[in-house]
Amino acid sequence: MNNNQRRIAELIPHKTLYTGEKIPAIGMGTFGSDRFSAEQISQAVLGAVRFGYRLFDCASVYENEAMIGDVLLQARNEGIMREELFIQSKIWNDMHRPGDVLLSCAKTLKDLKLDYLDMLFIHWPFRNHHAPGAKVSDRDEQSHAYVHEEFMETWRQMERLQKSGLVRHIGTSNMSIAKMKLLLRDCEIRPAANEMELHPSFQQEEFFRFCVDNQIQPVGFSPIGSPSRPDRDRTDNDYVDLEDPLVVDIAKTHGVHPAIVCIKWAIQRGQIPIPFSIHEKEYKSNLLSVLSDPLSPKEMELLKSVNRNCRLIKGQVFLWDDIDDWRILWDEDGIIRSR
Ligand SMILES: NC(=O)c1ccc[n+]([C@@H]2O[C@H](COP(=O)([O-])OP(=O)(O)OC[C@H]3O[C@@H](n4cnc5c(N)ncnc54)[C@H](OP(=O)(O)O)[C@@H]3O)[C@@H](O)[C@H]2O)c1
Repeated sequence: MNNNQRRIAELIPHKTLYTGEKIPAIGMGTFGSDRFSAEQISQAVLGAVRFGYRLFDCASVYENEAMIGDVLLQARNEGIMREELFIQSKIWNDMHRPGDVLLSCAKTLKDLKLDYLDMLFIHWPFRNHHAPGAKVSDRDEQSHAYVHEEFMETWRQMERLQKSGLVRHIGTSNMSIAKMKLLLRDCEIRPAANEMELHPSFQQEEFFRFCVDNQIQPVGFSPIGSPSRPDRDRTDNDYVDLEDPLVVDIAKTHGVHPAIVCIKWAIQRGQIPIPFSIHEKEYKSNLLSVLSDPLSPKEMELLKSVNRNCRLIKGQVFLWDDIDDWRILWDEDGIIRSR
């Protein structure tokens, strides 16, 4: 690692979690969308950590943690300290039961070659499972609506992990305001972050505000509008952030790719974006976008109008029985559908 790259890492701004610990204001995703191999992704992680990324968003279900662990170890052997890194992972839906949460965390730690995680999320607030590469119409026989007692049983295990020191912070993902209110009512340890879909055409203003007001740091996934997402997460009416005329216009003004406008918007709004790319030019420009030429207050204001409430990661594969309206998963009317 050369001095220039160390300087880039040092220049990246940080946010402060409610625990007082710092987290980089931008990270890198590691989900290959069923398109990129673990080898390709881990090589990108190696290039990214050498370039100055310090936050990596991993998950057991991405099936690449062992290879990512190898390159993170390599980076530490090259002089990057463990304390400089902020590594997140997630518990997959089939590992929610007592005992399994600990097992899953232990496997992730072993694969990533770490002795603690900076953040562990519950990936989805359901035990509903789907096999890697599942089709939209696939349903698991065991799937059912959200059960708060089940979720709290899982959360208690997360709290145990934090108390044990194996995990520094615990968090949620793919939640709703209604579910979050129940969690805040019943938890002993509050979530430090909530990983949620956030991009210009899906701003989730109310939920975003709710998180900020409750000192839960929003981490924004699919910040560019996930142009490479798997087919199961595509529908005909999906909005394309990268082709939005205003986003394209602002990109021209700044002389950057529209993806960079999405990332600048995310950082300036206050969520932590975790863009994914295996391409060196892309992941480098994504990180550098935080360092110069911010969007103007007027551009930030204008970008509010790009919102189309267009959720891309709808979660159809987690539905149950013959239900096919994915909106049920998201409690849009404020009511949690239960069994
Ligand atoms: N918690 C959850 O349930 C959840 C769900 C989804 C994602 N995530 C996390 O969020 C991360 C990011 O989300 P995502 O992968 O869905 O979508 P994304 O980051 O919005 O989009 C990634 C794609 O954008 C393109 N791209 C990236 N940088 C670019 C640039 N500078 N210029 C042009 N194109 C660029 C790349 O496409 P090409 O490869 O075609 O160039 C890349 O594959 C994931 O990797 C994962 O870690 C979490």
